[in-house]
Amino acid sequence: MIINNTLREYKNKKPIRFHMPGNKGNKEFTRFFKDLASIDITELGFSDNLLDAKGIIKESEKEYAKSIGVKKCIYSTCGSTISNYSILRCFSKQTICYEGNAHRSVENACELFDIKGIKIPNNKGTDGRNIPITANQIEDTLKKNKAIKAVMITYPDYFGSCGDIKTISNVCKKYKKYLIADSAHGAHLFYSDILPAAPSKYADAFVISTHKTLPSLTGGSVICINNSTLAPQIEENFKKIHSTSPSYPIMASIEYANDYMIKYCDKKIREIYETLKKFDSIIAGSNYERVMVDDFTRLIILCKKDDGIETEAILRKNNIYIEIFDKRFLVLVLSVMDNKKDLIKLARILKKT
Ligand SMILES: Cc1ncc(COP(=O)(O)O)c(C=O)c1O
Repeated sequence: MIINNTLREYKNKKPIRFHMPGNKGNKEFTRFFKDLASIDITELGFSDNLLDAKGIIKESEKEYAKSIGVKKCIYSTCGSTISNYSILRCFSKQTICYEGNAHRSVENACELFDIKGIKIPNNKGTDGRNIPITANQIEDTLKKNKAIKAVMITYPDYFGSCGDIKTISNVCKKYKKYLIADSAHGAHLFYSDILPAAPSKYADAFVISTHKTLPSLTGGSVICINNSTLAPQIEENFKKIHSTSPSYPIMASIEYANDYMIKYCDKKIREIYETLKKFDSIIAGSNYERVMVDDFTRLIILCKKDDGIETEAILRKNNIYIEIFDKRFLVLVLSVMDNKKDLIKLARILKKT
């Protein structure tokens, strides 16, 4: 029982989880889903069918769409990888452009669906991180490549940086191109105005991974569609690409996440915002500094002594687990399931290190 033992050992440590999934194994979440195996069912007379939704799944998708301000939502239990494939297949045998640091699913979709993909290189920030492409870069690319049908942006990226989606959307409208957003990291942007703008008003279609930043199970993703020309094609693609055995617990957790965020996100996200100010004051003058990014729930810590590898090991010794790291940066994922106490503990350990 190798995997089981490893996972249970991790659980028993009661770790502080600054990594995905956004449910963080939080008590409130685990209490709600304590009967996971009992709700793990298949398509029955009453339980609808994700690949031909007409009943409870369709109703739930409609509610999701309404609450985030888009025309149509399709749930996926195979992550945003499959959601991106479902959208990008619309451009089979055509040309699209996308950011240099796009997720591998974008490049894979180009290969799988015979799409000509034109990469727009990312810019570098002063601290060496990739930053999003600009509306000017996109406009230049569109001028040079008339065949482009769609522009795909990553919004936000892994490091919480967001491009200027409003201006990018205006450029796409001017050149009559579809704007597709890979918002896998942005499922939380719809519920509080202290977060960067949500993609709902700007993109023709976009994907969100509920499992990354919301209280949802790994695999939860939603395809969000505003454009009525693309909608039927995306739906057809989805039926061809998604597993015929979607997970009901994952679908239930997508719905739970939206409900939870509507009720509590704004309050909880503001608490995180305030706690981060305290976090900054604790680590002030230390070897670490918070990098200010557009989405403050992506906590990026600069290691001034280039000792990120050693720092991660120290955090692990203190039962704190983070998303990714290299010698320069630590990347931590925060969600509404985190608490103030854990963030302050992290700051105190960094201060001492
Ligand atoms: C920008 C981006 N898009 C899409 C994906 C794929 O999402 P999923 O893991 O939900 O399949 C990822 C995964 O890390 C990602 O970073």
